[in-house]
Amino acid sequence: MSEMLELSKNAGPIGIFDSGYGGLTIYSEIKKLLPQYDYIYLGDNARTPYGTRSFDVVYEFTRQSVRYLFSRGCQLVILACNTASAKALRTIQQVDLPQWDPNRRVLGIIRPTVECIGEVTESRHVGVLATEGTIKSLSYPLEIRKLFPDIEVTGEACPLWVPLVENNEVNCEGADYFVKRHVENLLSHDTLIDTIILGCTHYPMLFDKIRQYTPNNIKLLTQGAAVAASLKDYLYRHPEMDDLCTKGGETLFCTTETDGKFGDQASVFLKQNIQVKTVILE
Ligand code: DGL
Repeated sequence: MSEMLELSKNAGPIGIFDSGYGGLTIYSEIKKLLPQYDYIYLGDNARTPYGTRSFDVVYEFTRQSVRYLFSRGCQLVILACNTASAKALRTIQQVDLPQWDPNRRVLGIIRPTVECIGEVTESRHVGVLATEGTIKSLSYPLEIRKLFPDIEVTGEACPLWVPLVENNEVNCEGADYFVKRHVENLLSHDTLIDTIILGCTHYPMLFDKIRQYTPNNIKLLTQGAAVAASLKDYLYRHPEMDDLCTKGGETLFCTTETDGKFGDQASVFLKQNIQVKTVILE
């Protein structure tokens, strides 16, 4: 069914979307590299985690989120969520965007992560820790194979890691148990792994624990810096889109949860007080 959106052609902020707090690990690197732009961050905290949900549900929730960001004037939206990038990005790009506004853009974060992996691994054996949805989608092995057919990829789903982050339980004993278990599982499947991609934007918030249970000779790859560099390059190569991104250095944070809860937890991560608005997605 075709659906028209009443969208303005004016310049607007860059939209950054995640199922919850995880996208803040991407936002903070983007903001560091590109401080001059305006941003709207949207976390669908009321419906997180996405990682255990079906393709249809992740697609529908992501679609609602992108539509909201478009309605707030964003011309460019980054899905700072691997699960949404794996399960919803292609359909939004191919089916929804042509109907809503073919000039707007939605970009994912799996491709920019994968592009740098060839230079990082020496053994050509790479592990991926991610949500069940991302692992089952096979997006990482498929994308890596396209660019680096010689790299062997092994994935491990970590379904409880996102709830640990969302519930502010990263320092509890349970976190140690589940982090150790999944890191050991992954490494038991391929002892030649020398690089692990943290393929969920929530996982950098568990970085110290993951480092603790991963042998020192294995590199841990987070996504923020690669995604930020790729966005900078994209805006340089697409000056027509750059012109449609406002540059006032402001960020508005939105959540589907209560603003107070999001603000308290996000402020700890971002190390600054922020203004938050609660929104309803439909
Ligand atoms: N942060 C998201 C990701 O990168 C998803 C977390 C979730 O909601 O399960 O995959």
